[in-house]
Amino acid sequence: MLQTPFYDPEKSYEENLAEGPFGYFGEAGVTPQKGEPTYEFFGHKMYSPFGIPAGPLINGKFVQAALDKGFDIVIYKTVRTRKYPCHPWPNVLSVDVTGDLTLEKASGKLVANHAFHEPISITNSFGVPSPDPEFWKEDIANLIKAQRPGQVVIGGFQGTKMGDGDVEAYIEDYRVAARMLMEAGVKVFEVNFSCPNEGTANLLCFDIARSETIAKAIKEVIGELPLIVKVAYYQDSDALREFVKRVGSMVDGISAINTIAAEIIDEKGEQALPGEGRSRSGVCGYSIKWAGVDMVKRLKALREELGLTYTIVGVGGVTTPEDFFEYRAAGADVVMSATGAMWNPHLAEDIKHVL
Ligand SMILES: Cc1cc2nc3c(=O)[nH]c(=O)nc-3n(C[C@H](O)[C@H](O)[C@H](O)COP(=O)(O)O)c2cc1C
Repeated sequence: MLQTPFYDPEKSYEENLAEGPFGYFGEAGVTPQKGEPTYEFFGHKMYSPFGIPAGPLINGKFVQAALDKGFDIVIYKTVRTRKYPCHPWPNVLSVDVTGDLTLEKASGKLVANHAFHEPISITNSFGVPSPDPEFWKEDIANLIKAQRPGQVVIGGFQGTKMGDGDVEAYIEDYRVAARMLMEAGVKVFEVNFSCPNEGTANLLCFDIARSETIAKAIKEVIGELPLIVKVAYYQDSDALREFVKRVGSMVDGISAINTIAAEIIDEKGEQALPGEGRSRSGVCGYSIKWAGVDMVKRLKALREELGLTYTIVGVGGVTTPEDFFEYRAAGADVVMSATGAMWNPHLAEDIKHVL
């Protein structure tokens, strides 16, 4: 049964920032950990290889609530080097998908509404807003100071495309963001490469040469500290192989996947999310699990084939403990859930009961 989501889709992003988290995450209390932290994660020992990816934990209150409720590896929602606005409400809608959201189905139109139901699939459309760095640096620094053993807060970030074709400035923006997160005390970094690429209409992760340049630029800033790159679903296996060969050899982890984009309409057949550039939007939750699991299997096979050592973070459609184990069996070192955790804030506890 779906529970009260900790991020309320019926409220604006600003209301969520001010009033959230909701439901179980809004209740006081820290879930006791059992045993000792034994799961290796970049030299740290974790209580579990499970957590929440970049997105639904929109500020320090949300991140702290996730840690308190037993999600051990959590990411503060992707930040930028400057304050950046959020798309207008609604930002989260339920989408009707029967079975898997195959790429063929995603090439058509999906109907969205407010009737969230199981198995949960949604579209999320925020435009990657960011608070002012003055705010998020302090917010993250406080979380890191309060971090308990066996848990970790990851700093997630991306560069901002200005649309002026200035690629050097775009790359420099990644360096600046990484430096700001370092100043906040972040020890594990995740860069979002499934984001817009300056001077192109495609995602950065599909521009392999540019991805390589940016990963190198970030590593020059953060040195030995671990860097995870977050990617989208690759249909083209040769492209994935090339990405892994050139970027996977330079970074410490690869996280897959982000969302699968589709055209989103309302019940009348009109654009469901208001505003320019929002006719297509990313789908996540149950119906994209197949794609996340498939990417994890391919990343594992490529890691072996190419003799690499990156950590594999499996994301997409994890809504039950069974899904977690399916990802682990596919080769995920760490598993994360955004949509599933939103509507089941007890998911980490449920997984730990059977771990
Ligand atoms: C509300 C929400 C906001 C998200 N925002 C971000 C984001 O800021 N950066 C990012 O890399 N991914 C973002 N995502 C994508 C998730 O990290 C994840 O890759 C995707 O939702 C698939 O996982 P899921 O099926 O468990 O939701 C967001 C997802 C949701 C549900």
